[in-house]
Amino acid sequence: MASNGDAPSSAAPAASPAGAPARDAPAGALPAGDPTVVVTPWEVSGIVDYTKLIQQFGSSPLTPELVARLERVTGRPAHHFLRRGIYFSHRDVDKMLDLHEAGQKFYLYTGRGPSSASLHLGHLTPFMFTKYLQDAFDAVVVIQLTNDEKFLFSKETKRPLEEFTRLGRENAKDIIACGFNPEKTFMFMDTDYIGSLYPNVLRIQRAVTYNQVKGIFGFTDSDNIGKHGFPAVQAAPCLSSSFPVLFGGRTDVPCVVPCAIDQDPYFRMTRDVTPKLGARKPALLHSKFFPALQGDNTKMSASDASSAIYLDDSGKVVKKKINKHAFSGGGATVEEHRAKGANVDVDIPYRYLTFFLDDDEELDRIRTEYAAGRMLTGEIKAALIAVLTPLVEGHQARRAAVTDEVIDQFMAVRPMQL
Ligand code: TRP
Repeated sequence: MASNGDAPSSAAPAASPAGAPARDAPAGALPAGDPTVVVTPWEVSGIVDYTKLIQQFGSSPLTPELVARLERVTGRPAHHFLRRGIYFSHRDVDKMLDLHEAGQKFYLYTGRGPSSASLHLGHLTPFMFTKYLQDAFDAVVVIQLTNDEKFLFSKETKRPLEEFTRLGRENAKDIIACGFNPEKTFMFMDTDYIGSLYPNVLRIQRAVTYNQVKGIFGFTDSDNIGKHGFPAVQAAPCLSSSFPVLFGGRTDVPCVVPCAIDQDPYFRMTRDVTPKLGARKPALLHSKFFPALQGDNTKMSASDASSAIYLDDSGKVVKKKINKHAFSGGGATVEEHRAKGANVDVDIPYRYLTFFLDDDEELDRIRTEYAAGRMLTGEIKAALIAVLTPLVEGHQARRAAVTDEVIDQFMAVRPMQL
């Protein structure tokens, strides 16, 4: 994954020709993909072929040319998530760069469904990336905390709403600790801010039929009615008119959404309705999934603490989890490893380094040495521990400084300088 090796074959029928804006897949049933692979906002399983996903979803590959353009426009090196193809797909980012160059500023929108008290490394990555985009474009960021979504979609149907609100405020601390600019970042809890969103929620709900949400999200007749309505709540922040105080009533501020690709159904629906409402379609930047410690095709699960590294894990726990649980692509014995080398593509310590080690040369050196069998599994694990320990401990120190007052400041409804 060190190189951006995911460009789709141009011969594929549904892929958009290079440079041309992709047509979104129709809202409704998607072309049949591999039945062993599931990618929905609620379930990701199987070995995901990201090239196929681009074709199936009708998005565009985030090409090295577009990344180079982003570097030129921002005047700074691209984030390593872009250099390494971790963000691999997009919709209309080229158009947003055109607008930016013409002097029209966009805002960034991302969010978090509060389902656990602490975030894990995989949850952290979209916020790290959004913070980079905020700095690179000096952009306003809005962050939605969907306590309503988690309440409606939780399998534990007895869990009280207040619980998700509490988790949302805990998550807000982790998000703020990523270093967002307090002058340009607005965070909101859905149940608090819903009054301002509601006019757009209504407009969106009237423009989408029951058949459409069933087709896009796979809802069934026995799902609660809140689920069917919720997608409009996640769509509404894509319209700048949902933030009348922030944007001084402007209805035309373009929106860019960085998210993991599993969130795309929400935004396919959004992009379907925005033209009908006289609003601009949001642009999207899609990331690949962050793998569980046990490797691809296993799940990071909140109920199994050993499947993920949490941001509140101590240095000692981080070390133990990596040494004990990280799936290894190394040889079964030292002799075999020295002779045949490691399979870096399935190796979790290596994969995690592609996410968290910024230094391209060092990453390249590790890849070469490990693949050749000169570096041992214990050594690559030690390299990962050396990267993650300061990351997690630094995060904990910054999070400890986030008081209730700081959260309230980020959540205050206030005008913002675009
Ligand atoms: N649905 C997302 C989740 O479950 C939360 C979310 C809300 C979101 N709005 C978003 C994610 C915008 C990305 C972009 O975590």
